[in-house]
Amino acid sequence: IPVDPFDLVIFGGTGDLARRKILPGLFRRYLSGQMTPESRIIGAARSEMDDAGFREMVADAIEEFGGPEKSEKAAIAEFLDKLAYVAIDAKGEGGWKELAGQMRDGVVRAFYFSVAPSLFGDLAERLHAHEIANSESRIVVEKPFGRDLETAKALNATLAGYFDETQIYRIDHYLGKETVQNLMAVRFGNVLFEPLWNNHYVDHIQITVAETVGVGGRGAYYDKSGAMRDMVQNHLMQLLCLIAMEPPSKFEADEVRNEKLKVIRALQPVDSHHIVRGQYDADGDSPSYRDDAENPRSFTESFVAMRCHINNWRWAGVPFYLRTGKKMKARASEIAVVFKDLGHSIFEGDEARHRNILAIRLQPNEGIDLQVTIKEPGPGGMRLIDVPLDMTFSEALGEEADDVTDAYERLIMDVIRGNQTLFMRGDEVEAAWEWTDPIIEGWNKRNDVPKWYDQGSSGPDDALMLMHRDGRRWRDIKG
Ligand code: BG6
Repeated sequence: IPVDPFDLVIFGGTGDLARRKILPGLFRRYLSGQMTPESRIIGAARSEMDDAGFREMVADAIEEFGGPEKSEKAAIAEFLDKLAYVAIDAKGEGGWKELAGQMRDGVVRAFYFSVAPSLFGDLAERLHAHEIANSESRIVVEKPFGRDLETAKALNATLAGYFDETQIYRIDHYLGKETVQNLMAVRFGNVLFEPLWNNHYVDHIQITVAETVGVGGRGAYYDKSGAMRDMVQNHLMQLLCLIAMEPPSKFEADEVRNEKLKVIRALQPVDSHHIVRGQYDADGDSPSYRDDAENPRSFTESFVAMRCHINNWRWAGVPFYLRTGKKMKARASEIAVVFKDLGHSIFEGDEARHRNILAIRLQPNEGIDLQVTIKEPGPGGMRLIDVPLDMTFSEALGEEADDVTDAYERLIMDVIRGNQTLFMRGDEVEAAWEWTDPIIEGWNKRNDVPKWYDQGSSGPDDALMLMHRDGRRWRDIKG
């Protein structure tokens, strides 16, 4: 379904995110007919460039990051025709009158702040002073949304000085991922799971987001951030919320966000014994974290694993184990709901521990896998084995699964539609920092030193111990 015609201004329009994700994504939405020919995209950045120069840059970005769509030469030419460029001085006056002159009435006005958060206030102020933004306009902001509670509050306050909360779209691109949304479809679209989704039936939940990449190339940002700020405070926290929240009465922005907020607020502070930090070591020619970060004394973590608890009726006593890291053995993200053992087995001699596990594979190889126990085929008597009921979406849905809209393009279309369901509300972000801050402060106070781990491993041994101590095991990280 096409979205309403829009003028989308991308501040930071020549930057990395714009080139890799935003612009190729918008082109795909144009190809699909969702972005209609009346819509326009205006790149705004510091560099002096004319429309033709910007179009050339976007054509190159589509060529490099556009996937199969890059062969659609005629459509690319039409798409480029919708683009314009304005050189802008975020802290001065340069370019703002020109930008104001580009805006049209009667279309949705959206502003993507793909710039450092220190510029948010300047941009917002000038958008208002030049009457470029109006009460219908939307702004899109990216992580990092602050680096602690205090800075997040300050950013929220700055934006609130110019925009209403209903106009602010805080992106967490994990919420735009197909399978992350499928998580809600599975939970709330089936009668099967919800009755079991509580501490009577669930033993524990594991959330893993493992990456094979290191931090080379973005060490300067990453070293000040670490896995806790870069991944846990936002992406893992969002996954935790979706898996643990109460059913909202409707799939509607504030209904969903209210429920997510309750989860974050119910999180118990994490005990320092229940958290493990790691840093990847050098491996032959492959540099260590410290080399990648160009900081030989860095104590920043590139891996973190922890055990959390949600203090509410549904989840009392159920541990949630979270882990994420760089340079791990495979790129694999999944959420596994591990159900409790059978209380009693009627099958004599069956000593094995059979448990149902619902694993939701977020990426790659998106799908759902339900481990069930059945009889081992053959005449050997009632011997039980665990087998997967595996649904790999690309196999189950055939061609449709190829049309997996990239997270960014889906979210940008939601901005134009005015649908905030998959965006973080200000109070949610603040609550997440409120929980994260004491953990990071604790490390700083103790001068905590991360444990080394081998590249291509599952993280430091201490992370394995974190579960072994509880008589549990992490699932294998498989790509
Ligand atoms: C980003 C982090 O938000 O998410 C990166 O800053 C990380 O460090 C990336 O690599 C992971 O995203 P994805 O979509 O590749 O899982």
